[in-house]
Order: sequence, then C-alpha cells, then structure tokens
Amino acid sequence: MSTKQQLLIYLKEVKGAWVSGEFLAHKMTVSRSAIWKHIGSLKDDGYVIESSRKKGYLLRQTSDLLLTDEIREGLKTNVFGKGEIIYFRETDSTNVRAKYLAGDGAPEGTVVVAEKQTQGRGRKGRSWFSPASEGIYTSIILRPPISPNEAPKLTLMASVAVAEALLSLTKLKINIKWPNDILINGRKVAGILTEISTDMDRIDYVVIGVGVNVNTPRQSLHPDIRQTATSILMETGKPFPRIALLRAYLEWLEIYYETFKTKGFDPVMNRWKNFADIIGRRISVDLMDRVRMGEVLDIDKDGFLILRDREGTIERIISGDVTLLS
Ligand code: BTN
Repeated sequence: MSTKQQLLIYLKEVKGAWVSGEFLAHKMTVSRSAIWKHIGSLKDDGYVIESSRKKGYLLRQTSDLLLTDEIREGLKTNVFGKGEIIYFRETDSTNVRAKYLAGDGAPEGTVVVAEKQTQGRGRKGRSWFSPASEGIYTSIILRPPISPNEAPKLTLMASVAVAEALLSLTKLKINIKWPNDILINGRKVAGILTEISTDMDRIDYVVIGVGVNVNTPRQSLHPDIRQTATSILMETGKPFPRIALLRAYLEWLEIYYETFKTKGFDPVMNRWKNFADIIGRRISVDLMDRVRMGEVLDIDKDGFLILRDREGTIERIISGDVTLLS
C-alpha cells in the first residue's frame, strides 16, 4: 500500500479530527514535506482537507470522484471490481477502452470507469452525453461460458442489475423499457451498450457499458434529450452519491451473472418482467428499416419481443426502439 493510501486510511479513521503533520510523518516514516505533498495530491483527487499551521490536517469530506480505492471500499463482490479497476478523469469511451483491454487478455471482472467521456457511445451509433462527474460511465469485461446467440441475455441481465441498484438505493419506481432503457417517470435515466467479440462459435469477451445520469441538472442535459431524459438529481431534488450506486450495480450484476450461470436465464428474465410493464401494451417499434405496430404478447426466454400486429401476424423481434401507444 502506498504512503498516500495509508495517509488517507488514517485520516478517515480519525474522522473529522485534526492530526499534525509531524505526527503523520512519524507514523508513516516519511518527511513532513512528503506528507504535505501527498495531502496536495489527495486534494487534487477531490478530498476536502483543511490545513492549519498549528493544528495540521483535517479530512472534511471524502472525494466524490469514482476513484478506484473508494469504489473498492466495502464492495461486496467476489470478482467484479476485485481485480483491476481502470479509472480515467477523461477518456473517449469506456467501452472502447474495455475492448482494448479485453483484446489484450484482461480477465473477467475488469472494470473501466470514467468521470467524463468525449465520445460516449449509445446504441445504434448514437452518442451518449457524458458530462464530467455528473453521471456514471462504466464498462465491465465478461467472458461468459455461453454461445454468441445468447449474448442479448447479458444486456437484459445488466438492465436488471441497474434497475435493482437504483431501486435499492433510491426507492423510486424504476421501469425497464425493452430491451434495455432504464426509466424513471417515463424518462430515460440509464442506458446499456453491450459489445461482443466472438471467436469461431464461442464468445471471446463481452463488454457491458452502462451510463447513468446521476447528478445531472436539467440545464446540463443536452437539448436533444431534455424532453426524454432524466437524472436522479432531477427526480429527487438531491445530489446522490455516485460511488454507492456504482458499487450497488457491480454487486447486483455479479448476483445476476452467478444466477444466470448456475440456474439459467429464467430467474433473471422473471425479474426483468417485473421491471418492464410492457406485456399486453400496444407499441410501435422502430427497426431501422421499418416500423412495426402491435400488441406485446411476451418477452420470450431468449429476451426477444413477441409482437402481434392487427392482422394477427406474430413477429419475434431482437432489438428496436419502442414507443408505448396509449
Ligand atoms: C444507450 O444508447 O441507451 C446505451 C448507452 C450506453 C452508454 C454507456 S456510458 C459507458 C459506456 N461507454 C460508452 O461509450 N457507452 C457506454
């Protein structure tokens, strides 16, 4: 453990008490100027630390940045986030970074997190608006022992994990809009982009990217999405700890991934159906090349949407943009 990490642990332990530079230097067996330098670096990381010539240092507030050590603190998982967590203050896209890492052999459970994305990617070639430190932008690498045609299930699994994390921490009513938009009060709060690399007929890796609008104020939302998107801040009127939400997501994701591997997809799908109030509804679904309208009969065991149109024709749809009709 580095001196900086030790220093932070100690400042957290003494919770809100002043500690002299001399004492810290002695405790960590480094010079006082080294302590001063590490304190400066902790401040750069977003920790609010007061300094006084007479009294020393006092940790007022921990950082709200999604720092690796902060994410790990109290993370109740066995694999996800237990290996490497790669943190960026700014990057193009966490999915792009994760794909490079996976291509280089990074193991399952490797997590990439960014404060800001300059080229955040959404589904269907859209962009994902990713302002600095207002949302969660994260991607995880999985190497699931399933066949490529089962990969869509992983997106549904991730949407259940995001919904569970949001529900458990905010108690707001969370909806999933097929296949994987997370909504609060009919507006999108989170989205998922799954990318897969196959090798012959097996999956080499899957990258699941999740973006959540957490502390995004309305005026900060991109004008294009102001009518259709929301954030936790907008729904509750209060800033929300991003780290707690990210931890909860990783924990739920691991729970559902284990369930999927050991008990099959049905339990995950059943929970997904609880969050998605789409069955029996009339919808239109935009399939890029055409639009279909009809009643949703079911989401089948593979996560496909079963739609019956006016003429009674039944179609099985893998992915598309759904609009609920009254
Ligand atoms: C959607 O269109 O609903 C999917 C949005 C997915 C956004 C996340 S943010 C983290 C990860 N990195 C990306 O570039 N995209 C995903």
